[in-house]
Amino acid sequence: MRSQGRTAGCVPTMGALHAGHGAPIARARGECGAVVMTIFVNPTQFDRREDYERYAKNLDADLEFCSARNVDAVFAPEADEMYPKPGAAFVEAPELARYLCGVFGPGHFRGVAAVVAKPFNILQPGAAYFGEKDAQQLAIIEQMVGDLNFPVRIVPVPTVREHDGLALSSRNRRLTPEERRAASGERSPEKGKRAALDVLETGPAVRVEYVEVISPRMRPVDRIEGPVRLAAAVWPGSTRRIDNVLCGPGQS
Ligand code: PAJ
Repeated sequence: MRSQGRTAGCVPTMGALHAGHGAPIARARGECGAVVMTIFVNPTQFDRREDYERYAKNLDADLEFCSARNVDAVFAPEADEMYPKPGAAFVEAPELARYLCGVFGPGHFRGVAAVVAKPFNILQPGAAYFGEKDAQQLAIIEQMVGDLNFPVRIVPVPTVREHDGLALSSRNRRLTPEERRAASGERSPEKGKRAALDVLETGPAVRVEYVEVISPRMRPVDRIEGPVRLAAAVWPGSTRRIDNVLCGPGQS
């Protein structure tokens, strides 16, 4: 592909593909002469063996998913091809790997950094596409690529969500309907309003005229089903100020 002057866009994944993976593919398709997908459930990024073993695998369905989206090549190695010898050289993750998800899985980002570095060298793509859902992963890969001078452009891709706002993931199907409602956030405009009031009513000098959760086009809403606008008028002292922000499901 390179000899034909086509730049490859790489989309690293662990398979179990869904529409969330479709977004980086579509972006790569639009920007690159060729799209190369990696499908590899990476044992070194799972801190618990049972999570690794439980990870959904269905290569046939994944290959169909790729061919329906005009992916040019799929790189799907076996674990012993990727990690043939013990004690091999590894990539150290930057300090950023110690916070957030790194606290709950200390080896996770070290495994991610190494498994992303390998296909960068094997496939030599001009660009690689990563979802913003995994924001810490994206930041760590951006830093690794900068610090170690990989000639790869890292492209962030916005999060794809279900209609209720939950980010698409192969793990969503494990949720019961009740767990699912809990995972997708606050639905009551009243409670949203209450939370905003708690923040605004912090000092005696601030008088709140109104705080409302309304539709983006300024109509009342009974339930938060999609993007909403949080609008307020407050007096911080003797001057009236108004403002509003778009928030809720679909606004990351
Ligand atoms: P995986 O969870 O399969 O995700 C592959 C890529 O798809 C990641 O860049 C991820 O951020 C993106 N993605 C997943 N769900 C998405 C959604 N709802 N919207 C937008 N993008 C989404 O992340 C990994 O695999 C692995 O850690 C990997 C980078 C492949 C290294 O093993």
